Amino acid sequence: MGILEVRDLVVTVEGKKILKGISLSLEKGKIHALMGPNGSGKSTLAFALAGHPDYLIEEGRIFLNSEDITKLPPHERARRGLFLGFQYPPEVEGVRLREFLRLAAANCHEPFCEFQKLYLESLAYFRMDELGERELNVGFSGGEKKRSELLQMRVLRPKVALLDEPDSGVDVDGLRLIAAGIEEAARLGTAVLLITHYPRILEHLPISKVFVLDDGHIVREGGPELAWEIERSGYEAVRG
Ligand SMILES: Nc1ncnc2c1ncn2[C@@H]1O[C@H](COP(=O)(O)OP(=O)(O)OP(=O)(O)O)[C@@H](O)[C@H]1O
Ligand SMILES: [Mg+2]
Repeated sequence: MGILEVRDLVVTVEGKKILKGISLSLEKGKIHALMGPNGSGKSTLAFALAGHPDYLIEEGRIFLNSEDITKLPPHERARRGLFLGFQYPPEVEGVRLREFLRLAAANCHEPFCEFQKLYLESLAYFRMDELGERELNVGFSGGEKKRSELLQMRVLRPKVALLDEPDSGVDVDGLRLIAAGIEEAARLGTAVLLITHYPRILEHLPISKVFVLDDGHIVREGGPELAWEIERSGYEAVRG
């Protein structure tokens, strides 16, 4: 059994069925890629797994570390080690990145001293020293927001990280940093689900599996070569 097991998940949003029976398994310490055309349901899957209240699970089950978390609220899932890096990280005025992360880490039983050390080290790791005292994502550039998501993952050390397009809009140096952060997390045991449109980031990473989502179904599973097949031939060809 994988650290995250998704079984026959059917999800509706505003009464519309978006995910139509998704099953997948994520392994500890492995990086799994999730690709698929715009609107195929990738972010919907990430939100449903994280417990977003607008994304209703009509059928199916989610198991984290063998525990059924299908009905748990988002904070309980997070406390058990599930992390979501947003495609569009929200700006939260009045809340400092440091405070936000300190409280989140305390909820994950991270002692304060350890947090301080890891926070400063992680700011340096992602070249974000100047952003450390700023409000959460407020006025951050697109690339800075993506690095901020990765910084949160690095400090919280989740069991499972769902990363929704961490590479979108990121420059070449940023991409290397983000890939390094993902690789490190996996090396330390995190199971990663990396949602992306681009095989470019996959070149920097040891990918164990690629899933292709289309119209709410997983239509293909394969190795990293599948990402290149998509790049060359498009989704039409991959659908078969
Ligand atoms: N809150 C919502 N209200 C209404 N429709 C929604 C909502 N969230 C998602 N959808 C619809 O669900 C479908 C899947 O959207 P989703 O964001 O999951 O796609 P995606 O695969 O992440 O696409 P992209 O590659 O563009 O990020 C789309 O048709 C979208 O319009
Ligand atoms: Mg999306």
